[in-house]
Amino acid sequence: MRFSGTGQRETGAILAQHRGWIRGCRGAQSNGGTAGLRKTCGLDLCRSASKPYKLRGMNKPPMTPLTAPPTMASGRVFNFSPGPATLPEPVLRQVQEDVWDFRGTGIGILEHSHRGAAFDEVFETTEASCRRLAGSGGTSSSAAEPLGDDWCVLFLQGGATQQFASVPMSFLAPNRVADYLDTGSWTTKAIAHAKAYGDVHLAFEGKASRYDHTPDADEITASDDPAYTWYCSNNTIVGTYFPSPPASVAPLVCDASSDIFSRPLVTDGHGMILAGAQKNLGPAGCTLVIARRDFLASARDGLPPIFDYRKLDAKGSRMNTPPTFAIHVMGLVFAWIEAQGGLVEMAARNRDKAALLYEAIEASGGFFSCHARLGVRSPMNVTFRSPSAEIDARFVAAAADAGLAGLKGHRSVGGLRASIYNAFPAEGCQALADFMADFAQRHG
Ligand SMILES: Cc1ncc(COP(=O)(O)O)c(C=O)c1O
Repeated sequence: MRFSGTGQRETGAILAQHRGWIRGCRGAQSNGGTAGLRKTCGLDLCRSASKPYKLRGMNKPPMTPLTAPPTMASGRVFNFSPGPATLPEPVLRQVQEDVWDFRGTGIGILEHSHRGAAFDEVFETTEASCRRLAGSGGTSSSAAEPLGDDWCVLFLQGGATQQFASVPMSFLAPNRVADYLDTGSWTTKAIAHAKAYGDVHLAFEGKASRYDHTPDADEITASDDPAYTWYCSNNTIVGTYFPSPPASVAPLVCDASSDIFSRPLVTDGHGMILAGAQKNLGPAGCTLVIARRDFLASARDGLPPIFDYRKLDAKGSRMNTPPTFAIHVMGLVFAWIEAQGGLVEMAARNRDKAALLYEAIEASGGFFSCHARLGVRSPMNVTFRSPSAEIDARFVAAAADAGLAGLKGHRSVGGLRASIYNAFPAEGCQALADFMADFAQRHG
C-alpha cells in the first residue's frame, strides 16, 4: 500500500495505530480487494489520479495529532479532556483482552448476552464494588462498609441529561416546588428541564458572579417545603466545587458527574446521587444512579416503566438491554480505585495533582489567572486564562504540540481548562505546570 500527498505522515501514523485492525482485514482485501476491505472494515480506500490513496472518513487528523511526541511511559499523550476522559491504563489493557475473549469464554465482552451468566457476574461484581466505594469511610475494599439495602444502585442510559428530566418528572408534583442551586451551565440546563414539570425555586443564582463560586450557607435561600434540592457537586465548565454538600431540609439530589468517587462520598442528606460515567467512571453511555429507596418511594405513579425508578430498581437495571460494555469497564475502574487504596487515596492524589496546577497559576505572577474563587476551586477541572484569548489559543496549540492535549476552555467561559480526573496521572500535571512556567516566561 502506498501513500502520497501532504497527509502522508498523519495517515501513516493513523495506520500504524490501526495496524492490528488493518492486519485483521487483510484477508478481506485479498478476497475482495478494495471493495472487500471497505465492506469489512468500514474504511473507504479510494483512488484518484492526483492522490493515489486516501482514507475517507479517517483522513481528517484528530484533534490531538497522533504524531504528537509521546509523553506518557506508554507512548500516549496527556489527555486533559473534560469527558470522555483519560481512563486508567491497566483498565484499558484489560479491556483490550476482554473485547476479544472475556475470561476464557471464547466470546468477547461486547458480545455477551446481558442475561447470561458471564454478564451476571460482571453486573454483580460491579455493583458490589460500587457499594463498597460509596459506603461509609471509602478507604479501601476491606475497610469500607458497603452501602446498605436502603439504597439502590442503578446503571442507566440517557446520560446525566436524562436525569435532568427524570428527577422532576418523578418527584416534582404539579403542586410542589423544587429548589435548585444554579452554579453553572449544567445546573442551568437541569433547571430548564425541571421547569417543564413544575415550579422551580432558585435557592442560589450564580450567574451574577459569572459562576465563579459555589454558595456558602448564608447565600442559599431555601423555599418553604421543597420536594428536593438539586445541586451539582463539581461544575465541570467553570471549575468550582462544593467542598461539602449544601444544607437542605429536603432530600438532596446531586449531579456528581464530574467528581463522583474522586473523594469519599457523602450520602447523608441525599435522596439521589447521579453521574454520567465518562469522566471518573468509564466510557460514555452509562449513568450511575445511587438512590435511597424511601426517596424513590415518593415518586409519582403512572410514569412509563422505563422512567420509573422503582421499576428500574425492581428489574435490577435490566428492564431492557443495559450498556453492558460500559458497565464492565466501570467495574474495572471501581476495582482499580479499590486497588489504589479507595476514595481517601483518590482524594489525596487529586488534591496534590490540582495543587501543582493552582500553584503554577499563582507562580506565574499574574500571567495566568483562575476563573474560580479561592476556597472552591475544583480539584477536577482547573479553569484559568492567559492575558488574552489570542494567547490562550497559542497556548492550546503549543501545548498540544508538546503532548498536552485538550486544554481549550469551554466555549461559554473561554480561556483554558485542565481536566484531571482520578485516572489522570500526576506526571501529566507536573508536565503541564512546567509547560505553563516556560510559556509564561516566553510570553509574559
Ligand atoms: C456536571 C455535569 N452534568 C451533566 C453533564 C451532562 O452529561 P451527559 O452528557 O452524560 O448527559 C455533564 C457533562 O459534561 C457534566 O459535566
